[in-house]
Amino acid sequence: MSDAPTLYPVRPDFAAHARIDHARYEHLYAESVRDPDAFWGKVGQRLDWMRAPTTIRDVSFKQQDFRIRWYADGELNASVNCLDRHLATRGDKTALLFEPDDPSQPARRVTYRELHARVCRLANALRHLGIGKGDVVTIYLPMIPEAAVAMLACARIGAIHSVVFGGFSPNSIADRVGDCKSKLIITADEGLRGGKKIPLKANVDAALKLPGTNTVETVLVVRHTGAAVDMQMPRDRWYDAVVDGQSDSCEPERMNAEDPLFILYTSGSTGKPKGVLHTTGGYLVYVSYTHEAVFDLRDDDIYWCTADVGWVTGHSYIVYGPLANGATALVFEGVPNWPDSSRFWQVIDKHQVTIFYTAPTAIRALMREGDAPVKSTSRKSLRLLGTVGEPINPEAWRWYHDVVGDGRCPIVDTWWQTETGGILISPLPGAIDAKPGSATKPFFGIQPALVDANGQILEGEAEGNLVLLDSWPGQMRSVYGDHQRFIDTYFKTYPGMYFSGDGCRRDADGYYWITGRVDDVINVSGHRIGTAEVESALVAHPKVAEAAVVGYPHDIKGQGIYAYVTLIAGEQDNDELRKELVAWVRKEIGPVATPDHLQWAPGLPKTRSGKIMRRILRKIAENAPDQLGDTSTLADPSVVDALVRNRRQP
Ligand code: WT7
Repeated sequence: MSDAPTLYPVRPDFAAHARIDHARYEHLYAESVRDPDAFWGKVGQRLDWMRAPTTIRDVSFKQQDFRIRWYADGELNASVNCLDRHLATRGDKTALLFEPDDPSQPARRVTYRELHARVCRLANALRHLGIGKGDVVTIYLPMIPEAAVAMLACARIGAIHSVVFGGFSPNSIADRVGDCKSKLIITADEGLRGGKKIPLKANVDAALKLPGTNTVETVLVVRHTGAAVDMQMPRDRWYDAVVDGQSDSCEPERMNAEDPLFILYTSGSTGKPKGVLHTTGGYLVYVSYTHEAVFDLRDDDIYWCTADVGWVTGHSYIVYGPLANGATALVFEGVPNWPDSSRFWQVIDKHQVTIFYTAPTAIRALMREGDAPVKSTSRKSLRLLGTVGEPINPEAWRWYHDVVGDGRCPIVDTWWQTETGGILISPLPGAIDAKPGSATKPFFGIQPALVDANGQILEGEAEGNLVLLDSWPGQMRSVYGDHQRFIDTYFKTYPGMYFSGDGCRRDADGYYWITGRVDDVINVSGHRIGTAEVESALVAHPKVAEAAVVGYPHDIKGQGIYAYVTLIAGEQDNDELRKELVAWVRKEIGPVATPDHLQWAPGLPKTRSGKIMRRILRKIAENAPDQLGDTSTLADPSVVDALVRNRRQP
């Protein structure tokens, strides 16, 4: 690989037709940081406002007068921007193209007109059920068009949606429902993934038996697989029955730009997931603009993002960005490797997908299957590829470029976070030369910086912690119900700056290379798992005394979950208990948090004050026992030898 290119210049044929070429990027970037008000004022005009904003940016990252407000006196409705305003020009255009899990089942097209009608019917039904502005609706659905319908119906009536990923357990649903005091849940009988059924309704039933969930008055159930489910009247209602007979039009709620649009829970360093709060105006401006610019969007594109709506990528780049732009977005219910590992490429051919956006973990898993499943398909329709969720290793980047894209398609490696709402660092495909493994350059208005441990800003070529010096319209506004936690989590480590939690290197050309999380968050297949969450799930087991969880390099997942477990005195460790504990974590948090390796730890390395030294545990998990560093400050250095002896053998 040593002679493989490290620079992939912008393709002249692509640049010739691109929305933004190099000169325009440089010009617009300079303008965006010189005069953000003028820049974002202009960009804000891409939306339909019920009342046009007269103020654009109102921001301070300083503790004393902390505030983040964009377009603060503007009024709009997100669903109107995603639906109504397209009806005159593209009412018959496909908004959502649904490809089911089972390829023998028919695909379905939902036009903008139909989507509008469906959203209005559900919005009317929700109002009828007593849901209004500011109420929280939990959405726990598979990847079916109803997921987008549900989100937009909430937006239409000013309800705040909280989507919970289908891979979360009843406990996790209950925590999230309880935290935001949801009044209504929209779910389905079952989900389908790779031919396997996911008991969504049964999970909701189990969640609602748990304490803290009694705010839920209604559960709407989409009939998807037709499986028999328990319907508890009057709480549970069939979705079709409540929507049937509702009017196809629904007066949209006038929302202030800073009114909440949604909450999305994400893991941090502490045990409790945070309800990341996004608001209406700035978020929609930002996701629609980045979606258009980063993906060089044209009206005839068939755009496919393989994420699930349970994650922010699905919110911003399946639902809100693409629909605000009047694009055709593919909604895929299935998985990359079922019925076989050419499914992605077959779907691309079947629907003539032009833009394909996926995660490095999927690319690595498919790369492992060799070129044949790719080469058996045409993929001629593709013109642009994207990745998101974790650093992509150059080898996977090149395979994606050379094999999947036949060397024709630029790749946009997009760095961002649940908290950032939209893409912050990414090449623009007609403007910025790519380097495999680098997210390259900041988007308009984004001012990244690298700081050292003392918060000193590093200039030029450097490696440090990635911060952002100024706001952008899509930035999260609060942690739901705990504004102080928002300020403390993101603006306290480096006062006056937003701290991303990521490490990063900047090379001599000013390119950014994200090196991964520097906090206690593990990125498993692009999904964020807090080590503290897994630890508290483990210690909740009656036989576990103590647990410490770290990430370790994993060929496919990027990072795997490595758990060290100390049993309570007298309990015997064995393989059966190991399996039981792994299953326990799946049950407690959900399959997303399944430990990849569990090691018995007679003792954990602790300082004399009792703090677990994770640095040491990480090195053992990485199988690098020669890099443990100084262990002399440990209360009992001998525990390390035992852990090293019994470490995972790759
Ligand atoms: C974390 C955010 C952004 C939506 C999906 C994940 C990592 C994300 C990249 C990338 C390197 C990346 C970071 C970030 N990450 N994209 N292109 N290159 N790392 O959202 O669950 O909020 O996770 O994902 O570590 O902090 P999320």
